[in-house]
Amino acid sequence: MADATLMDKLVSLAKRRGFIFQSSEIYGGLGSVWDYGPLGVELKKNLKERWWRSLVHERDDVEGLDAAILMHPRVWEASGHVAGFTDPLVDCKICKNRFRADDPSLKGTPGTPEAQCPSCGNKGSLTEPRLFNLMFKTFMGPVEDAAAVVYLRPETAQGIYVNYLNVMQASRQKIPFGIAQIGKAFRNEITPGNFIFRTREFEQMEMQFFVKPGEDERWFEEWKAARMEWHRGLGIDPGKLRFHAHEPDELAHYAKAAFDIEYEFPFGWQEFEGIHNRTDFDLGRHQEYSGKRLEYVDTVGGERYIPYIIETSLGADRLALVVLVDAYREEEVGGERRVVLRLSPSVAPIKAGVFPLVKKDGMPDLAGRIYDELRRYFPVFYDDGGSIGRRYRRQDEAGTPYGITVDGQTLEDQTVTVRDRDTLEQERVATGRLLEYLRERLSS
Ligand code: GAP
Repeated sequence: MADATLMDKLVSLAKRRGFIFQSSEIYGGLGSVWDYGPLGVELKKNLKERWWRSLVHERDDVEGLDAAILMHPRVWEASGHVAGFTDPLVDCKICKNRFRADDPSLKGTPGTPEAQCPSCGNKGSLTEPRLFNLMFKTFMGPVEDAAAVVYLRPETAQGIYVNYLNVMQASRQKIPFGIAQIGKAFRNEITPGNFIFRTREFEQMEMQFFVKPGEDERWFEEWKAARMEWHRGLGIDPGKLRFHAHEPDELAHYAKAAFDIEYEFPFGWQEFEGIHNRTDFDLGRHQEYSGKRLEYVDTVGGERYIPYIIETSLGADRLALVVLVDAYREEEVGGERRVVLRLSPSVAPIKAGVFPLVKKDGMPDLAGRIYDELRRYFPVFYDDGGSIGRRYRRQDEAGTPYGITVDGQTLEDQTVTVRDRDTLEQERVATGRLLEYLRERLSS
């Protein structure tokens, strides 16, 4: 399968089955903004829950937070985003198209008479590069003037930094400890694309871990290993995961060291999580700009210091794309072609399909009772339309790990057939044991 086709097929399956739709589609869509449909919202929710559970619930040293999207505008001056969160752009004065200054299709040096526009082909029409800030601006209150400008946050991290003392005091944590948050972020990206890979509105799952200076390198290594392990635990093909170390010239203004976790997408190796040693840059700057002391006071040794921060920053949408790409398969089964999403059962939107083999002999009633019982514990789907093979294939495409069929034998001995999406093996399970049987298998 050619890689470009795989992305096209995935986009089409995502729409057809209700994972992901283009935003405002009936109006022609809005550039690089996407909506999650009935299956997509479950998938993304499951990924977020799994992340939250592993960081906040299963550890004693990480607390949760949900900070607001709108923050005081000084936050973005302190963070460096007002001055530095920019891309250099060039405009074509004739066709009005806009390009990133490092776009390889630009011919010649923009701003000179020889430079040719890659879109309309005119020479000398490109402006010199100008810096363009990627933050979305809006106004707070009724007056739309410069004093009322606020930004839609371009990362969730800053909400954590400005709350670090509040969280630490309220939860009685001591350094080292972390704060985790899931929330929307917005960037007016110039070259968005590749479906939900780079969008203008997206969700981040970020964790900031506060440590004593000098202990930062050890914690950096620890988090790097923990995050890679977490992705492997999702069942993602380990051969398609790797670290990418940032060279000194790639490092963001705040970072002492940075590693990306990359996945081999159909369009190449790309980052989907970043692990950064942000030093004391953020808290130091917030202390300077706010005039409030943000030092940590060690009650045992009496030392005062600005903590160093190790950050793990994962895109929820980008992770959803990794999981979908990794799960997508086209297979031959008994001479027929099937499309299947081999999603890990713990993140699959629907956990089981329930099917009466035929619409008679009391099978729909019995299947209905099983469906009503199971839906109290996890999402299940009842389907009595079409041949049993077609019903299985519809659930294969949705990534549903188990298919439960009520047939003639069920009426005699109270057992059902449970079909495994991946092995296609069928096992007879007593209806009284069904819930336990599925629960054991759904946690992976
Ligand atoms: N607080 C650090 C930070 O925001 P980043 O490398 O700019 O670092 C972290 O972003 C993660 O957020 C990325 O690895 C990616 O998963 C996600 N992300 C960033 N920009 C995105 C975009 N335009 N669309 C979708 N996800 C994005």
